[in-house]
Amino acid sequence: MKNIYKNTTSNLNKAKKFLKKCNVIAVPTETVYGLAGNAYSDLSIKKIYKLKKRPKKNPLIIHYYNIKSLKKDALIDNNFLKLYKKFSPGPITYVLKKRKDSKISSLANRNLKSIAVRFPKNIVARKLLKKLNFPLAIPSANISASISPIKASDVIDEFGKKIKFILDGGSANIGLESTVINLIGKIQILRPGAISSDQIGYILKKKVTILRKVKKITAPGLLKRHYSPGIPIKLNSKKADYKAAFIVFGKKYRNNKNVFNLSQTGNLKEAAKNLYKTLRKIKNLKYKKINVAKIPNKNLGIAINDRLKRASN
Ligand code: TXA
Ligand code: MG
Repeated sequence: MKNIYKNTTSNLNKAKKFLKKCNVIAVPTETVYGLAGNAYSDLSIKKIYKLKKRPKKNPLIIHYYNIKSLKKDALIDNNFLKLYKKFSPGPITYVLKKRKDSKISSLANRNLKSIAVRFPKNIVARKLLKKLNFPLAIPSANISASISPIKASDVIDEFGKKIKFILDGGSANIGLESTVINLIGKIQILRPGAISSDQIGYILKKKVTILRKVKKITAPGLLKRHYSPGIPIKLNSKKADYKAAFIVFGKKYRNNKNVFNLSQTGNLKEAAKNLYKTLRKIKNLKYKKINVAKIPNKNLGIAINDRLKRASN
């Protein structure tokens, strides 16, 4: 497809040119594809919000190549250092105090005192970040509240021709957005993801909980309706309703045209990777309703259930 570009040096240089001119492009990460813009530029950030139709109160994650490039923008402490050493680059986002002299556009963090930062692991994203002398604001490359993209063509499914340049990095390895952990004041997970609260708690030597209730601006990521195919979804179903698509997990389900198994072998990692792909497929097949079987609420199942719950709101 015309606006999808392979991971070559010349295309990475093209991407750099777009970003320097404050244009928005799509990039792969190991979690989901994102819309990237220069995080130091108000204009780039405005374009991202407009393209995504994103509510103004919802701040963006700033993506860096490494900790050295972060130091100009955020205050870092011991807890951050421990987690960074263990999990980054990787699918985890840290909420830190923003430095007063940081050049990050205040439109990107909606004027909060904090910024959310992440170090993606995807090799294409890393090559690109390494070439730049500014960090990138990268929200998921979907229209706000819709299903996140896990491959280049999903970005076209979301935006049509509006995104002129999409860097191809293959299918996202993880398929669910990063874990967001707040490190200011009470340490808490704001959005569950591939890195679990147990893994984080083990490194910090304390119990780390997952925020349940939607609070106002401190955890805007927990917007109630999100990741949604725009079709009614019923969770914890034993069977499919009339003419509904049935999303299931594990070997006890029989194959059928309307049955979509996230993982026949009952593997939560595989299920996470298949979730958005399956929701997008069901949406494009024009089903009017979705039933979802019970999915174990442990490990990655917590993140899967979190997304399904929000999709069903
Ligand atoms: O895996 C990911 O994180 C992907 C890829 C593209 O990196 N990005 C992503 O971005 O999921 P987005 O914009 O779809 O979600 C950002 C989340 C939101 O839930 C937002 O509310 C939260 O991060 N967030 C951003 N800044 C924050 C802040 N200062 N305090 C608390 N939450 C923040
Ligand atoms: Mg998103």
